[in-house]
Amino acid sequence: MAINYQERIPNNVDLGNDRALQRALEHWQPRFLDWWQELGPEGFQSADVYLRTATSVDAAGWATFGKVKMPDYRWGIFLADHEQDRMIGFGDEFGKPAWQRVPGEHRSTLRRLIVTQGDTEPASVEQQRRLGLTCPSLYDLRNLFQVNVEEGRHFWAMVYLLHAYFGRDGREEAEELLHRHSGDVDNPRILGTFNEPIDDWLSFFMFTYFTDRDGKYQLMSLAESAFDPLARTCRFMLTEESHHMFVGETGVTRIIRRALEKMDELKSDDPELLRKHGVIDLPTLQRYVNFWFSSSLDLFGSEQSSNAANYFASGLKGRPDEPRFEDHNCTDTVEFMDVPDGNGGITSAEVPTRNAINEVTRDGYIRDCMVGVTRWNRAVKRAGHDFELTLPSRRFRRSIGNWSGAPTDPEGNLISRDAYERGLDEWLPSEADRAYVRSLMKQVIEPGKMAGWIAPPDRGINNQPVDYEYVELH
Ligand SMILES: [Fe+2]
Ligand SMILES: [Fe+2]
Repeated sequence: MAINYQERIPNNVDLGNDRALQRALEHWQPRFLDWWQELGPEGFQSADVYLRTATSVDAAGWATFGKVKMPDYRWGIFLADHEQDRMIGFGDEFGKPAWQRVPGEHRSTLRRLIVTQGDTEPASVEQQRRLGLTCPSLYDLRNLFQVNVEEGRHFWAMVYLLHAYFGRDGREEAEELLHRHSGDVDNPRILGTFNEPIDDWLSFFMFTYFTDRDGKYQLMSLAESAFDPLARTCRFMLTEESHHMFVGETGVTRIIRRALEKMDELKSDDPELLRKHGVIDLPTLQRYVNFWFSSSLDLFGSEQSSNAANYFASGLKGRPDEPRFEDHNCTDTVEFMDVPDGNGGITSAEVPTRNAINEVTRDGYIRDCMVGVTRWNRAVKRAGHDFELTLPSRRFRRSIGNWSGAPTDPEGNLISRDAYERGLDEWLPSEADRAYVRSLMKQVIEPGKMAGWIAPPDRGINNQPVDYEYVELH
């Protein structure tokens, strides 16, 4: 169905035919806008930003580009096209028709899953709200705002499901989503990572590379859901999500490129010297990778999880790309995984596949994370340096699951608590690293100009030149 932009809330769900739902969402809309004004991007609400907006949900050309003030962005409700006779693709209900309504017995679990996903969307906008004040270019500023408005739309996507399918509890949860705030002492966001402020652009690129990619995998799992409206919502969100990871990957690529240029020019890879020349050295980059990768791994949950097994059994949440697996039932199979044996050693555990779904999903995520790292390393190698960025072991610095409370080094070797605490200074960004990165963060807003620590992008947005005025400030 085409997207109807005539209505106050653009949508392709025929909202006009459900007056009660329409009224409830129109009631929520001004509160969302208040939230956006108060906790959305600071200082740019009246700027004209070159944004893409969804105009249809089919694969080809769903986006149009144009300058809009962010508060006028047409946040709306867009679901991927309805698939005729869609069947449940996994679990005990395999092969039965997908649900168009919420089955009573799964109501509270589904609501919890949607609220948890929904909570991350506004959280990231809140975390990133001050970044515009230190943007390295107008191009980057525009990308930040594109990510922010789309997270705002993802927020709408989840609120729509709550309003449309969960009655009064759903409406209450939608209110709560506006009341929790990232980093709020009394009323924080649900997941830990989403309460960390993101106040420098290196962290922003790491977040969009590693944490938005966790989002991708969560959405892929929910896109398999037996609850068809959720599956269709998530499928469309995934098309928006890929831009966020593009921002992260290319951001890091450009930081590396700039560092390599400086290394060439100075004929040195000495971090101290490179810092004197205002670029981000590769060992510092590695420490940021260690931090963001390990904290994003926790978002997948425990390796052995009865919740995950229940979600899978009941059809609520599958595995990313479920159709590519041969066995969609998984009652007779096991996965093997390394676990600490409690005596300083490591042993292999046999876990029923259904209980290991989080780990199966994490496997896919780690492989996906490696793709960009390999590309970054190729650039370093091509420039004639033998430095190699690595992802730390999945055991490293975990707060959830088998390896929480089991100190390891980044290679995953078990070490003493003491050695771990000492090692962290060298493995994670130190206060000095953070202070240095912060010292680089100075706003650059002249069209085409880039901050000294980052190379220009290969090309602009939507065939515009790099020096296009992506954001018009007033
Ligand atoms: Fe999102
Ligand atoms: Fe995202």
